Amino acid sequence: MKLANGHYLECIACLNRLKSEETFTCPKCGDLLQISYSYESVRRRFKASLRKKGSLGVWRYRELLPVSFVDAVTLGEGATGLSRSMRLAEDLGLSQVYFKNEGQNPTGSFKDRGMTVAMTRAIEIGARTVVCASTGNTSASMAAYAARAGLKAVVLIPKGKIAEGKLLQAVVHGARIREVSGNFDKALENARRLAAKGRFYLVNSLNPYRIEGQKTTAFEIWEQLGRVPDVVVVPVGNAGNISAIWKGFWELMRLRVTNSVPRMIGVQAAGAAPIATAYAKREGTVMPWVRPETVASAIRIGAPASWKKALRAVKESGGAMLIVTDSEILRAQRSLASGEGVFAEPASAASVAGLRKALRGKLLGRDDCIVCVVTGHGLKDQEIIRHST
Ligand code: F0G
Repeated sequence: MKLANGHYLECIACLNRLKSEETFTCPKCGDLLQISYSYESVRRRFKASLRKKGSLGVWRYRELLPVSFVDAVTLGEGATGLSRSMRLAEDLGLSQVYFKNEGQNPTGSFKDRGMTVAMTRAIEIGARTVVCASTGNTSASMAAYAARAGLKAVVLIPKGKIAEGKLLQAVVHGARIREVSGNFDKALENARRLAAKGRFYLVNSLNPYRIEGQKTTAFEIWEQLGRVPDVVVVPVGNAGNISAIWKGFWELMRLRVTNSVPRMIGVQAAGAAPIATAYAKREGTVMPWVRPETVASAIRIGAPASWKKALRAVKESGGAMLIVTDSEILRAQRSLASGEGVFAEPASAASVAGLRKALRGKLLGRDDCIVCVVTGHGLKDQEIIRHST
């Protein structure tokens, strides 16, 4: 088994170290695993690679990825735009707000950053079939990368609960679709069960290889800005992405490339806010919500798998978890589209809605450098626009 860049798996709770990757949970305590490196030994190579000119993109950071670039399953992910806010910042009285436009990825969402790494790993370990549960974007991304890799893809989606555009993507890329009655959480349970039997390789974000690809968002933001932002605002569903972006900034500091980290602000929709609720009540444990509901279907999740990582990201960075309502999300979606030229799906606009909330909650300084991660393209969910006009 190849262990690119000397990486290893480590339990996030009991720090048990594993060399074999057949599981994504700790055999000792059952918690999630994360990928780690011997940072002193990769430091010099990684820093040298940052000095190279070359274009942006996930694989620019291959010295700090746990798979070999030689076998990369890629469609040209990452290198998304970072645009400075023209109007919203002025309206809010903020001097520097940026949008990291992840809708510009090959299948239209940030999931592609993680998928290129997870699919490369699937090939390395000889998997034949990949599986995921999804609120739509993961399945669209997995289907495309599986097609590219020549693997079979099985997608478990909550019946009638995902945007049509995303479903069409999975269909057109040739994935087998299994509709699950119930919500995303039920679909994820089923996907985990299928994967545990050993024939399917799970590519949901509890797969730490996914997280490694997604952490490159942080590297790109840092390179594009030429500095570490003060604040990064991220919509939160299953909580993989906020954990990944935090890991990216943490690693830059661990490698002494930077000497600060941003405050991470996670944003959940009011009808699906188990982590933000636990955060507000200062509870250390997140209780699942049985019936999550929000117009932002991508983050309609009641039992987020990576809640522990997300709470850690927020606490360690001095950030916060916030709640926004559906109407705030839809308003933010419109203002982003009509005022900034960025068409984002509702879940993605949650970060922008969160910005207003954060300002009201005195979590931002007027001169802070703030990046809102806009996670997916608006064309994927056209129903929402038709229904709200
Ligand atoms: N924004 C969009 C557009 C998403 O599709 C998702 C998650 C998130 C934000 C939240 O990211 O789960 O890492 O906290 N979508 C998953 C999916 C669940 O199946 O496509 P997270």
